[in-house]
Amino acid sequence: MVKSIGILTSGGDAPGMNAAVRSVARACLNKGIEVYGIEQGFKGLYEGNFTKFNRRSTRNIINQGGTILRSARFPEFKDPKVRKTAINQLEKVGIEALVVIGGDGSYQGAMRLTEMGVNCIGLPGTIDNDIPGTDVTIGFDTALNTIVEALDRLRDTSSSHQRCTILEVMGRHCGDLAIWSGIACGVELVVTSELGYNEDKIIERLRRSKFSDKKHAIVVITEGITDVHILAKKVQQETGFETRANVLGHMQRGGRPSARDRVLASRMGVFAVELLEAGRGGECVSVVNGELKGLDIIETLSKPRVTDKGIYEDSIKIR
Ligand code: ADP
Ligand code: F6P
Repeated sequence: MVKSIGILTSGGDAPGMNAAVRSVARACLNKGIEVYGIEQGFKGLYEGNFTKFNRRSTRNIINQGGTILRSARFPEFKDPKVRKTAINQLEKVGIEALVVIGGDGSYQGAMRLTEMGVNCIGLPGTIDNDIPGTDVTIGFDTALNTIVEALDRLRDTSSSHQRCTILEVMGRHCGDLAIWSGIACGVELVVTSELGYNEDKIIERLRRSKFSDKKHAIVVITEGITDVHILAKKVQQETGFETRANVLGHMQRGGRPSARDRVLASRMGVFAVELLEAGRGGECVSVVNGELKGLDIIETLSKPRVTDKGIYEDSIKIR
């Protein structure tokens, strides 16, 4: 039976990470398992930056964005010697297992540690919703609602000035934030890497919008596809549609987690502790059709994430 568990948050932060930290800590303490917070992801693990938690350590955080444990990107962790030092740090204080909250990169770190004898469970903490094997990640819902608020505001000014507005949103290579917010806000056009990028088609579509009754248009595009400021200039030149580009940026990563993210994170945290109690490691917690599951990390990450084609088809039917 596991006696001591560490928790860390790694990679890009996501709203709901604190709710997950709280849930893991409370579940441990309720079961009489010692629990440590590890600062700054794998960097803090390597440096032995640990704090023993009691019930007060995680009070008043369920509603906070960001992560009280802070996060870090620490590429040095790919080096087995660095991981060995980290394991020595765990042994010094008697931490036997870890809950790693982060994205697919953090999952790789969790897997490598499990292979070296420290059972780890990954929780999907990222706004991108890009982790294979789970229907949804912690932070996606909050970021989506932040984008929806931004788009509603942009619609006001876009409509007043009869402009075309282009909004770039995050997602890395995953178009979920763009397509979900695009549907929620009834935008003219969504551009994601899943759909492919065809500048001529975008311009043609916006030319039609300019000469329609509506006279303003909104385009949502996933980051990393093109330079939206250059695209805005081209649209304006070729269609005569006055166009402005906006990049929402890190605004999407902050803010109070939504109720949905808090509940998801809380349930996943409890589930992670149950897996570790059962002696399982090298697994990630996923939600599949509403049910929590522990899936093998390597197998999960080796499969491509399945894109929900239905949402793309529906978005075209209601445009
Ligand atoms: P995310 O977890 O959001 O995908 P990153 O890809 O930056 O973010 O990964 C977070 C951290 O996980 C990295 O900074 C590194 O410390 C660790 N990590 C990523 N890939 C590996 C790997 N192959 N082996 C060990 N650790 C890794
Ligand atoms: O993975 C979360 C995310 O916000 C991505 O959407 C984005 O591409 C990336 O992280 C930005 O990373 P950074 O915080 O290092 O700028």
